[in-house]
Formats: sequence, C-alpha cells, structure tokens
Amino acid sequence: MNYTRADYEQAAAVIRERLTVPVTVGLVLGSGLGPLADTVTEPLVISYDDLPGWPRSTVLGHAGRLVIGRLGNCGVIAQQGRAHFYEGYTQQQVGFAVRVMHLLGIRTLIVTNAAGGINTAYQVGDLMMLNDHINFVGMAGHNPLIGANNADFGDRFVSMTQTYDRDLRQIAAAVAAQAGITLHEGVYACVAGPNFETPAEIRLLRMVGADTVGMSTAHEVIVARQVGMQVLAVSSITNLAVDQIDSNLETTHREVLDGGAQIVPRMTTLLQGVLEKISC
Ligand code: HPA
Repeated sequence: MNYTRADYEQAAAVIRERLTVPVTVGLVLGSGLGPLADTVTEPLVISYDDLPGWPRSTVLGHAGRLVIGRLGNCGVIAQQGRAHFYEGYTQQQVGFAVRVMHLLGIRTLIVTNAAGGINTAYQVGDLMMLNDHINFVGMAGHNPLIGANNADFGDRFVSMTQTYDRDLRQIAAAVAAQAGITLHEGVYACVAGPNFETPAEIRLLRMVGADTVGMSTAHEVIVARQVGMQVLAVSSITNLAVDQIDSNLETTHREVLDGGAQIVPRMTTLLQGVLEKISC
C-alpha cells in the first residue's frame, strides 16, 4: 500500500484539533519502556484506534496510544507502542507515525528500543546511545523509502552519514555523566525478527561491528532523516545476546520486557535531562 499525503494529513488533523500545547519533540517508546510516558505532565491520551491509517500495536508490552503533553521543557508526543516490520506491517506503515509527527511540527525525534547486548563490555540494565546503525533489513531490500517518492517529505536519496545528531549525543552524554548513569555509545544492528538470533548470527554481528541488536528503530530513523528531523536514539540493554550454542541462557520476550521495565527510571532521568537542555 502506498500512502498519499492526504493519508498522513488525515491522522495529523485528528491529533492537531486536540492539541493544547505546541509539540516539537517526538518520543518513540520501545518494549517495556511505555511507562516512561507516565512522566509526561498534563497528558492528553489518544488511542491508535482513533487515528485513521495508524498501524495498531499487536505486541505485548506496547500499549498502542499517544501520550501528548510536557516533558522537561518541551511539548512532546510520545508513542506508547510502535509498529514493527515483523508484525506484518509494510516498511511504509512502520514509518507512518514519523511522517504524521513531521506534519504536526516535530523537529526532534527521540527513539528508544529494547536491544540485546552484543558488546561484551555491556551489562543488562545499561543504556547505549546509537552513534550509527547497520540496517540489515534495509540492505536486504526492505526500506520505507522504496516506491514512488513523495517529495513533500524530502529527497529520495537520503544521506545517512550524520544520522544520530552530534549535539544531542553530546547533551545526552553530559546528562548521563551528571546523573551517574552508564551510557555507552555504539552501533545498533537492525534485524527483522521476530525470532531472536542464533549464536552464530550474534558472532557475525559482533564481527561486523554491532554493539546491540534489535528489531526496530532504523526504519523510523530513515523516515525521520528524510524530513530533516534531528534524531537521538537509545537502546536499553534488556538481555545479553547468547553467542555460544552450549550456553544454558535463552533470550525470551519476558526477559526483554522485565529488563525494559527495570531501565525505565534511568531512561526517564536521561531523557528528561536532555529535554531540559535542548531548545524546543
Ligand atoms: N535480539 C533482537 N531484538 C531484541 C533483543 C535481542 O536479543 N533484545 C531485545 N530486542
């Protein structure tokens, strides 16, 4: 399915008519991180069911609603639950929300995800800020920008050199250091899922320079970069990726959700701190 500008406009119109504050920051909350939206003040909640064209969340741990209000100094739209490629949504559907946010005036996108730790220096409960990604799904031919280019949203050929904004990364690093939060910086490998990786796949990902692995983020970030949003993305390390076939460890969705829940207070401190420091 190819969305037209009118499809994005329709969803944006439903949100716009209920807005009471200007919004400039979009927040995508990954698995287990939904409760972060509880810290949004003066919240206005809109279910995805009420938004035409908006993909529903079908995954446990993704509430499926927008929470709109203030966080730090900024007016934010927080997505409690996102659409994943593995749910059967097209790449365009996965990127739908980002284009709607663009039409609503969002200029900064903060994307969170749950991820498996590949870098052996990482521990469960740590945070990793993305400074780059490897989009295996995109490299395999599934990219949200494939199809007729809608020039309203930017050029077809999008530069991905400065994908994760340097200033935002510096601000996040300073906030983390001040709050005593471990914040690594590294490369996120985006895979399709929904199965977790085999040990051989984890060793491969490590060899090519990935520090974390997950099933989201890159698609949304590509759409955000096309419209010129500044992007900050943070992985919560919910589990350590298993790299040996004789390991007794297994990665499960329960582990991912529990790991995410445990990280919420630190992720909240980090993002609130960032939103107090940026001009929005
Ligand atoms: N692999 C892929 N996606 C994930 C993981 C993982 O280990 N943990 C959380 N999301």
